[in-house]
Amino acid sequence: MTVRAGREFLAIPGPTTMPDQVLQAMHRPALDIYSSEMVELTESLLRDLSNLFATKGKSYIYISNGHGAWEATLSNVLSRGDKVLVLESGRFAIGWGQAAAAMGADVEVLKGDWRRAIRPAEVEERLRRDKEHTIKAILAVQVDTASGAYNDIEAIGRAIKAAGHPALFMVDTVASLGCMPFEMDKWYVDVAMSGSQKGLMTPPGLGFVAASDRAWDAHKKADLRTPYWDWTEREGSEHYRKYAGTAPVHLLFALREAINMLHAEGLENAFERHRLLGEAVRRAVAVWGEGQVLGFNIAEPAERSNTVTTVTVKGADPAAIQRYAKEKCGVVLGTGIGDLQGQAFRIAHMGHVNAPMILGTLGVVEVALTALNIPHGKAGADAAIQWLGENVKA
Ligand SMILES: Cc1ncc(COP(=O)(O)O)c(C=O)c1O
Repeated sequence: MTVRAGREFLAIPGPTTMPDQVLQAMHRPALDIYSSEMVELTESLLRDLSNLFATKGKSYIYISNGHGAWEATLSNVLSRGDKVLVLESGRFAIGWGQAAAAMGADVEVLKGDWRRAIRPAEVEERLRRDKEHTIKAILAVQVDTASGAYNDIEAIGRAIKAAGHPALFMVDTVASLGCMPFEMDKWYVDVAMSGSQKGLMTPPGLGFVAASDRAWDAHKKADLRTPYWDWTEREGSEHYRKYAGTAPVHLLFALREAINMLHAEGLENAFERHRLLGEAVRRAVAVWGEGQVLGFNIAEPAERSNTVTTVTVKGADPAAIQRYAKEKCGVVLGTGIGDLQGQAFRIAHMGHVNAPMILGTLGVVEVALTALNIPHGKAGADAAIQWLGENVKA
């Protein structure tokens, strides 16, 4: 017996649920890629992406996933042998650093761990010791999708400035753009990148990069540049070059619609929606944790992301919870990855999410815990309901 039917619900941290309007926006013929409509579409998207990153700098759209956008950031500003400092807070900054190492950079990891966010004071201390300024770039993620850590990019930017260090500050916003505040220029970020498939509610396949003036200065000297990723190649007047070839027309239709939806909601309202729903999830997890099996991966409450919650499972099999949720109830939870493989599951609350989606997901986790006889504090979903009832004003 199951209680699943109809649409399966994706509660994984990307690709996320796409709004029907976004899906429908792609259901049309391609455009003539030399038409003025195409040029206007590109211009509007590049402008809106810079606004989303909150920068006066230029943005670039790549036909790529996040890994591609990582390569775009690195190849445009670095030269072979440049030293790069990676700020660890889970899996993804490490992955970005591995790409840098494979491309010829000299990579150092500032050790963190999977249970906490980056400590700005540790960044400042490391940079103060680099008296010769050998470090050319610093890589950090705003949200680590594996650990569920939220990094205070503003405080890290201030720490870099306080150390008086000239390294470029490069930030991955793949799991946060459009969901949580990000202020590239105000927070001293030189290069920011993101992808289409999480908060931006668009199919996977587009990578975004924004570059400050300081990043452009580095770009002029960088020797890792290659034609596809190169910003200069994309700066010419010919529209075809903006994508180093044929534009990903349908993905751009989808992105246009998704950003229109964000504008209609209001970006601040979208951030607040994520905060409310993220906290609803955390209220439920806190109650479940009373059973001593489930818990938060991120120890410090202020360091938990509003876009994804990584739930550790001790003494039970997280895969059994995921299997039950999917096969019996039609909800797909995220898998624990990296160091947390086999020890956690993840609940995504990013992008096109609302109260019924989140409360339904929490309810299904609780059904699974009950059916599988996994000890847990009762009425976690009730705690989420209580939180929303008290904080979403009538
Ligand atoms: C924070 C973060 N950065 C980068 C990536 C890599 O993106 P992609 O899988 O699109 O290559 C991911 C993927 O989940 C991510 O969560």
